[in-house]
Amino acid sequence: MTNAANVQNEIIDILRQQKLASSVRKLIDERARLRGREFTACVITYGCQQNENDSERLRGMLSGMGYTNVSDRRGADLVVFNTCAVREGAEMRLFGNVGALVHDKRKNPDMKIAVCGCMMQIEENARKIKMRYPHVDIVFGTHTLARFPEILYNALSDDKRAFDVIDTAGHVYEGLPIMRDRSFSANISIMYGCNNFCSYCIVPFVRGRERSRRPENIYAEIRGAIKSGAREIMLLGQNVNSYGRDLGGDIDFSDLLRSINDIEGDFRIKFMTSHPKDASEKLFLTMAECGKVARHLHLPFQAGDDRVLTAMNRGYTREQYLNKLARARELMPDLTVTSDVIVGFPSETEDEFLNTLKLVREGQFDMLFTFLYSRRPGTPAAAMANQVPREEKKRRFDMLTELQNEISLKKNQALLGRRLRVLAEGKSRTDPSMMTGRTDGGKTVNFEGAKELTGEFCDLEIIKANTWSLYGKL
Ligand code: SAH
Ligand code: SF4
Ligand code: F3S
Repeated sequence: MTNAANVQNEIIDILRQQKLASSVRKLIDERARLRGREFTACVITYGCQQNENDSERLRGMLSGMGYTNVSDRRGADLVVFNTCAVREGAEMRLFGNVGALVHDKRKNPDMKIAVCGCMMQIEENARKIKMRYPHVDIVFGTHTLARFPEILYNALSDDKRAFDVIDTAGHVYEGLPIMRDRSFSANISIMYGCNNFCSYCIVPFVRGRERSRRPENIYAEIRGAIKSGAREIMLLGQNVNSYGRDLGGDIDFSDLLRSINDIEGDFRIKFMTSHPKDASEKLFLTMAECGKVARHLHLPFQAGDDRVLTAMNRGYTREQYLNKLARARELMPDLTVTSDVIVGFPSETEDEFLNTLKLVREGQFDMLFTFLYSRRPGTPAAAMANQVPREEKKRRFDMLTELQNEISLKKNQALLGRRLRVLAEGKSRTDPSMMTGRTDGGKTVNFEGAKELTGEFCDLEIIKANTWSLYGKL
């Protein structure tokens, strides 16, 4: 199909969904009037920021359809579970939480339950919901998010269960409504899907191939967010470094960053995730030259041993990784660096794990997200011999955490006395007498200050440093 024909189809689709959305609204308004109480919806998110961003779209659509979004699932008339399939733990939690709603549904005859997102792209999961969770009314996948009004209308109007999961990713939908969680920080997806097929990872199977959004649509969304008070723009993609490759090669991620940096306003730009194999000199130079780009790099290395990296299909060696990291730090000496690592990849030996520890020592990361390898059926690694026993994974995990905690503490202590810019996020959840915010590098800083500072940049002097958080003074 030609591009023009695609755009045409997309417009027809969107118009159709808008019409169905107003049909839902009519239904909901009518029923709300009859029962004398508004309809509420609760969207629960598992997984990454892209999923969170999809949930923000769902809330935007729901609000347009007459629902009031609430955060408590109990008593809600619609509960939407937006699921994640990246590790087994997230899947188990989902089934448990869906099961627990049986009783709520008996109490509220208007209640509908929907399950969507990455897990539903896996046939076995969708089937399990269909067969064993008859109280679930609606199932849809990542590729049919834009058809949510239609799915919901079908379920509401004839009280039958509605399923809509398709295998292939369509085009990128623009113009879906959005309701952001926090007005001062805007998640902006710049691309969807992933082409990398790391051997342990399910994401390419549930999110499809890479699709980049047109730059002009990204700029427009960012301008809108800034107009509504956003101070932080978080650009999202499974590998932002391959942005634009499917757009004909006129623009790459660095070009995009530079153009966003030129947008007027007082805001900082963050992005995730960068795949090390594609993190280029051009990217580091661009970051260093663009004043609004936060000095933060999230660069997941996953393993510190070359054989394991090859088995993971990551496309770089430990030396190449460390060289890139060193170059980035050379250009940006105050760079905060964070990373992801997996322990217990199939056949990982003790020596290979020790190489990961060694990389952690050399890399001196500010923060590390450590995961126990989780077997994902359908991925190449799931079929590999010599799966590492759980206790052994756990032992390696603990060793790694202990080492990283030492490093994180040391890194944080080095910030004592420094003045850092922090974006205030509101009252601290653990200590409501304090405000909390984040540095450009994503570190949490607690400080005494007025609630009204929420959403503003504050200059703080760091006066206390822990492993996980800092304390500052205005
Ligand atoms: N696209 C991003 C990561 C998305 S998933 C990237 O490439 O960096 C987030 C993290 O989950 C990954 O970085 C990896 O560390 C972890 N992860 C992915 N699949 C996993 C699995 N099967 N078991 C354990 N951790 C996994
Ligand atoms: Fe998964 Fe690798 Fe793609 Fe990240 S780059 S989403 S780890 S396949
Ligand atoms: Fe999970 Fe899907 Fe994100 S599998 S990590 S929610 S892309």
